[in-house]
Amino acid sequence: MTDRTTFLQNAFAKEYGDPGTHLVRAPGRVNLIGEHTDYNGLPVMPMALQRDLMLLCRTRPDSMVCIANVDLQFEPCSFQVGPKIPPFEPGDWGNYVKAAGQALAQQYTSLRGFDAMVSSNIPIAAGLSSSTALMMASALMILDLNDVAISAPQLMELMASAEHYVGTRGGGMDQAICIGAQPRSASRIDFNPMRITPIPVPSNWRFVIASSLVRAEKSSAVREAYNSRTRECKEALGVVAASLGSPEATSYTGVMSGVPAEDLLEAAEQALDATLLKRFRHVVTEALRVTMAERAMRGDDLDDYGRLMSESHMSLRDDFAVSCEELDRLTEIAIKSGARGARLSGAGFGGCIVALCGADDVDHVIDALETEFYSTRELGGDLADVLFVAEPSKGASVMEV
Ligand code: GLA
Repeated sequence: MTDRTTFLQNAFAKEYGDPGTHLVRAPGRVNLIGEHTDYNGLPVMPMALQRDLMLLCRTRPDSMVCIANVDLQFEPCSFQVGPKIPPFEPGDWGNYVKAAGQALAQQYTSLRGFDAMVSSNIPIAAGLSSSTALMMASALMILDLNDVAISAPQLMELMASAEHYVGTRGGGMDQAICIGAQPRSASRIDFNPMRITPIPVPSNWRFVIASSLVRAEKSSAVREAYNSRTRECKEALGVVAASLGSPEATSYTGVMSGVPAEDLLEAAEQALDATLLKRFRHVVTEALRVTMAERAMRGDDLDDYGRLMSESHMSLRDDFAVSCEELDRLTEIAIKSGARGARLSGAGFGGCIVALCGADDVDHVIDALETEFYSTRELGGDLADVLFVAEPSKGASVMEV
């Protein structure tokens, strides 16, 4: 057992008396490119991180779920699994466990619950999917303890809509990469239906993650800003489809497959007001960048991939309006000190950036970020938690302990 699992076992025994019997590990993720495309049915390219959440459990004879955390800022909570679970207050961590419980109880009857202790080293509210890791770990645990078999794509789809329970109308990227990631690879994820394609990360590429130290809490503060983007994207699509004489085209993939991108953007310029045009342009160009980025990664073209990441950041900043001063500053420092490209990652409004460098440049980029950004700020923890190199890792797993 590692130090971390021993610590978790001890905390479990202290809370519940007996040892835990099952352990789930669910990783955080960093999205490399393809931002705010998933809920528009367009591709994304994330990878799972070495940072993960561990949930140690034992089954219960009834349908109660009791959950505690080694991090005492998250208070213990409990609820009964069922098809209609009333939520805790917005922003409460327990809502992610409830989201999993409710979605599964709507599909499967008489589910037994569990007692659980959680330990996570995924930075919180940093755009690295710590909450989805909790939801996916809870779902995997319920399935395992109840001997329910479900295919990975089915679970990805089910959990993508399950997370709407917390009030954010997100897409399916985080849930899919959490269970579908392959070691040493990024993944291209396509939607409707969900497909996940691993892409090996070239061995000399390094992705540096740097937190803006601005919290981006999707289930509370950022929720309305995020949801307004999803509404704008939908509205823009409707107007453009109507202007092209195909109001029946209800998806971005549908509209994009019929018309060359340049013509589509020209039609959008005629049809949309300034704000909707910007949102639409981001979504369409970002989807094209994902396909170009996949090619660049497969061809080991570091410069091209980096350039696409930086273009993505500019589009998120100028057209999608989800960046902030700190994120912009971090990308500037990274690029100036040798990164081939950098962009905000995740929903934005805070959270982190991801910068791409060659193995030879990574120390220099990290030093520059430390000196020029972090040295003058209050970190609220260890530097290694806000600035680190991402290791492309495997997806979630359950084991008996
Ligand atoms: C959040 C959501 C994802 C995705 C990103 C933006 O992380 O959970 O589904 O929409 O924002 O790309």
